[in-house]
Amino acid sequence: DKGTYEYYMLKEIDEQPIVIRRLLDKYFGENGEILIGDQIVSDIQKADRIYIVAAGTSYHAGLIGARMFEKWAGIPTEVHVSSEFAYEQPLLSENPFFIFLSQSGETADSREVLQNVNRAGFKSLTMTNVEKSTLWREATYALPLVAGPEIAVASTKAYVAQVTLEAILAYAMSERIDLDLEQELSTIAVDIQAIVDDKAVFQEVANELLVPATSTFFIGRGSDSDVSLEAALKLKEIAYVQAEGFAAGELKHGTLALIEDGTPVIALLTQPKTAGLVRGNIAETQARGANVYRITTSVLAEEGEKGYVLPDVDPLLAPLLAVVPTQMLAYYTSLGRNLDVDHPRNLAKSVTVQ
Ligand code: F6R
Repeated sequence: DKGTYEYYMLKEIDEQPIVIRRLLDKYFGENGEILIGDQIVSDIQKADRIYIVAAGTSYHAGLIGARMFEKWAGIPTEVHVSSEFAYEQPLLSENPFFIFLSQSGETADSREVLQNVNRAGFKSLTMTNVEKSTLWREATYALPLVAGPEIAVASTKAYVAQVTLEAILAYAMSERIDLDLEQELSTIAVDIQAIVDDKAVFQEVANELLVPATSTFFIGRGSDSDVSLEAALKLKEIAYVQAEGFAAGELKHGTLALIEDGTPVIALLTQPKTAGLVRGNIAETQARGANVYRITTSVLAEEGEKGYVLPDVDPLLAPLLAVVPTQMLAYYTSLGRNLDVDHPRNLAKSVTVQ
């Protein structure tokens, strides 16, 4: 039920703080212990490499998770698009473990990969929003995203749930890094609430910058480059604006030629290690006339810059905050263009053909 919402997508964006709290309730015990299942954790720890396989937005959530599995858990991790992996399988490590990310649990390309994985006798875990779905049933293990039904074709809260659950799993496998994840995530839930309460801000930016645009660029480094991909996908999918998301350092290797006077460039700046470099990349686009809007954490924000300032957060968890403004920009651009936000043309919620 949409209640007072015009579209499900905005309702689902607004539900993201609750989704994080629900995951905390489900996966953390009273004394801070993680309730994921010892068997899952020890099976993954025995693997010499994790392969994350997914499509679309779930693939983008996988890119973020891979950084956590490598940095927190110390396990080499690759992320693959399922439609490629199914037919052009890379050379696997000796002892791989597979993680399938899927909102619906029914994506045909991912199912094809899981069948191959099962035939080869490898272990797997599905993280999905739909219990008893095909990917849930056919994997060795399954964990629910508990995001509640996602009705809008464009995925929002499932992405946030996937990234959150990947963080919890990576944390469970880490040698207790210097971070209280339960505390961090509950702060992030509060912070997301503040971002989604800024609707008027994003509607104005969308109307001014993106509704009239014919092409747009999202740039960032590290996990900001992963969020850029997701931001661009949302804008293409529901607002029909040609958008590219990519690693900021790649701009000067060709794409810069597309920047014209007034081209919107949305720069994500949440990674302290590379913020200076991204600033350099921003300057390169401004020198060609780009209209730059920044999404920055407060520690990296500079006085007088046009953009939105997020609270400070652990760099690996920053995508949970940074993605939210981009979801809202896509939503309000679609709305500003008088499109049917929940039902973009040519798309289905669950892709059950290969
Ligand atoms: C984009 C979107 C799609 C899905 C993709 C995979 O907003 O929703 O890109 O993420 O089709 O679907 P699932 O996660 O159901 O496997």
